Amino acid sequence: MSLGPIAVVIAIAFLLAGLAYLVNSGRRPRPGREIPPNLAPYLTDEDLETTRLTKTLTAALFSSALLAIALPVYFLTESGRQADFVHLFEEEAVHIGELIYMEQSPDNPEGFGCIACHGAEGVGGGADYIDPRTGTSVTWAAPALNDILYRYDEEEVRYWLIWGRPGSPMPAWGVEAGGPLNDQQLDFVIEYLKTIQIPQEEAITAVDAAVSTELASLEGAAASISAAIAEQTGELAAIVSAPDRLEWAERLAADLDQVLAGATSGLDTDLDGLSDDAEVQVNRVSELAFANVGTDATPSTTSAADRLILELDTDNAFTTSDQTGEPVPDADAADLLLQELESQVTQLTPLVTNNESLRTAAEAALANLDDAGAAERYAIDFESLAANGFGGDITRAERAYGLYSAYCARCHTAGYSAGPLATLEPGSGALGPSLRDGRSIVQFPDAEDQYDFIVNGSVNGQAYGVNGIGRGWMPGFGAVLSEADIRLIVEFERSLD
Ligand code: HEC
Ligand code: HEC
Repeated sequence: MSLGPIAVVIAIAFLLAGLAYLVNSGRRPRPGREIPPNLAPYLTDEDLETTRLTKTLTAALFSSALLAIALPVYFLTESGRQADFVHLFEEEAVHIGELIYMEQSPDNPEGFGCIACHGAEGVGGGADYIDPRTGTSVTWAAPALNDILYRYDEEEVRYWLIWGRPGSPMPAWGVEAGGPLNDQQLDFVIEYLKTIQIPQEEAITAVDAAVSTELASLEGAAASISAAIAEQTGELAAIVSAPDRLEWAERLAADLDQVLAGATSGLDTDLDGLSDDAEVQVNRVSELAFANVGTDATPSTTSAADRLILELDTDNAFTTSDQTGEPVPDADAADLLLQELESQVTQLTPLVTNNESLRTAAEAALANLDDAGAAERYAIDFESLAANGFGGDITRAERAYGLYSAYCARCHTAGYSAGPLATLEPGSGALGPSLRDGRSIVQFPDAEDQYDFIVNGSVNGQAYGVNGIGRGWMPGFGAVLSEADIRLIVEFERSLD
């Protein structure tokens, strides 16, 4: 408990005591008949003006002095108490915001899993997504949130939280948009986001790394498309061969089941519970399974491949070993083979049931990938870019392109966040308008105005350029990019034809 309330209690006690004394001392016991108080003679002047007066005045002085000290003391500690409370409330808000940001779990029923896409403490990440334009499954880049408040103000962040980003994996979270979070929960998330903002110098230092990453991924684009083509080719082959493999898996599972049922009768040299004859049969099933069922339906469980190739030795009860190198009894290995065949049946069945449509979709996706690989729509010719707008300086042209890719492309280049497969020409337009065909020169005849616009971003309802109407969607980059870098980007955008 603080000093203030104690002081007030003491002051009040003094005041009451003083009053009681005054009231009480006015009443004197009188002999005989009661005289009404107003007719009764009071103390004489002598009485009043002597020690009694001094005493009363001293007491009054003392108690006013006490009050004079106590009230300010009380006032001071009271405001501290309120600040403490506000602080506690803010801490609580940040805490709840963090819980919302985290993954949902039995320990955290309030979690909405922003972290799954935006990464721990908002460093950025990605989300599995079917790209609506190409129908291919991609990892869509989710932006860093640890610098979001340098780019957007709080109200703009709230807007994206409420409405999400249609055409991207970012869901609408606000109740107004049919999402699960009410206004207060959104406040809490924003309070949390405030606490994870990196220092501004750090945001600026991150620029060089971001530019290098972009340039490197441009170089790796062809390889990543080839990898995607190889994977898609494998998926298509798995679908095409599924009916055959399912037939084999079902037949072999039935065979093996029968072999194992009779495996205890007959000569068992290694005394492992599987007769010599049964071991030979298991090996036969294993060989046929490896050749005809394969493991393509389960590309993720590589161990399945190991299990499918058994070579049981009738002289050794532990012919095989598991992944950790522990010997596995032959009878267990045979059981695992049976389980594996049964699980192949389960996994292949849907591929067979929907074979036609899966095959059509996989073929279309493959054709699209082949197309993307051949057309290299993501590619950029630095020499002509440099000649176009950078006085032939390739280094500056590269940096400009890297900056644009890292900070602008996800909204101004179609498909950019879905990776090189889906990326169209730089500036082809997505959430933000197309910047091709000299669009920025039309919008901002004076490059200086374009520079200012990129520094500040758009404001909802405010006009910009020649005919732009801001919605507050375009972030401001003045706090995350240096002036020189923004000027490079302006040059880049003005060179897009
Ligand atoms: C399924 C993945 C996913 C989840 C979950 C998710 N987001 Fe997003 N979020 C994204 C993607 C992807 C984008 C960028 C979309 C685009 O390309 O325009 C985004 C964009 C944003 C933006 C705008 C950032 C910018 O710079 O443009 C904010 C703010 C944001 N998310 C906050 C959140 C918060 C807070 C949560 C949790 C309540 C959350 N997100 C949950 C995927 C996700
Ligand atoms: C989060 C998405 C987003 C990002 C990131 C983004 N922009 Fe924009 N940009 C927009 C939107 C949306 C508009 C249209 C204004 C509005 O709706 O508020 C716009 C408008 C513009 C315009 C005006 C175009 C016109 O013709 O009206 C220019 C120029 C521009 N942005 C440049 C940039 C640059 C440069 C960067 C990177 C440094 C960038 N933008 C990053 C979304 C974005």
